[in-house]
Amino acid sequence: MHRRNFICWSFVLLLTNNVAAGPQPMNPAESAREEVEAALKLKPDINNGRKVFMVCTVCHRPEGWGRSDGRYPQIAGQLPSVTIKQLADIRARNRDNPTMRPFTSPQLLGGAQEIADVAAYIAQLPMNPRNSVGPGNDLEYGEEIYQENCQECHGKDGEGDPVEHIPRIQGQHIDYLKRQFHWIKIGKRRNADQKMVKQIHRFTPREEIAVLDYVSRLRPPAGHLAAPDWRNPDFPNYYRGEGYQ
Ligand code: HEC
Ligand code: HEC
Repeated sequence: MHRRNFICWSFVLLLTNNVAAGPQPMNPAESAREEVEAALKLKPDINNGRKVFMVCTVCHRPEGWGRSDGRYPQIAGQLPSVTIKQLADIRARNRDNPTMRPFTSPQLLGGAQEIADVAAYIAQLPMNPRNSVGPGNDLEYGEEIYQENCQECHGKDGEGDPVEHIPRIQGQHIDYLKRQFHWIKIGKRRNADQKMVKQIHRFTPREEIAVLDYVSRLRPPAGHLAAPDWRNPDFPNYYRGEGYQ
């Protein structure tokens, strides 16, 4: 009887030990990092990226210019490493985006290759020359704050840094900048850069609006800007109203 109990317990211990020694479920930040690393190593296929982008046009529009009310950001022209990181983070729930998350499922978006493809497609889209900007009444102060607090990471003109996956923020819609900045400051955007969080945690409302107004007015280089009435010829049906708006 004792012996039988002993054998039973040994068996249970053996099983649980095996489970404990097996692969542990990864936390969201780790699994996103793995996907980012995999996607960065792949050779992107822009033509396939165009196909993958179809589903993104529903919200970000065929030009990738988002909406001037900032509900959907401009993603056109974003550095591939940044788009890759944001897609991986959203999908792994390392950045909350309940509106978009269902569209990042492997069934709809695919794997690391498709992420690399769509990021390369987005990077070559010319940017919106008429993004929405702030009130424009405190720009000198905004410039001063930018140079002291942001330039080191986001670059002189807000062009970002591909190696450190620091986003291009020049020419982004003002209300999107305000929302993300606020979420980064209060810790709601979990994938935020901790050094940036520290840098901005004492910002006053006046400093915030001044610097973000300045950022929204930073111009991307001429070669990255579209003509104001440019329409993406890759998605002609969008404007014919065939099924999606
Ligand atoms: C149903 C609408 C919807 C669809 C479809 C969608 N997105 Fe988004 N996307 C959003 C919203 C909303 C945000 C901003 C969320 C926020 O404010 O944090 C966003 C944010 C992003 C960001 C982060 C931008 C930044 O500067 O931080 C990227 C990158 C992005 N989307 C890429 C894509 C790609 C690529 C696709 C297609 C595979 C796609 N999205 C499909 C709604 C959508
Ligand atoms: C230490 C480097 C660093 C500093 C300093 C910094 N940032 Fe950032 N910032 C980042 C990184 C990295 C991200 C992207 C984090 C992520 O999601 O991976 C980011 C994200 C952002 C975003 C969100 C962009 C998007 O497309 O979603 C905004 C807006 C922003 N920063 C503005 C600023 C402003 C304005 C300042 C100065 C007041 C500033 N940052 C200072 C590194 C920095």
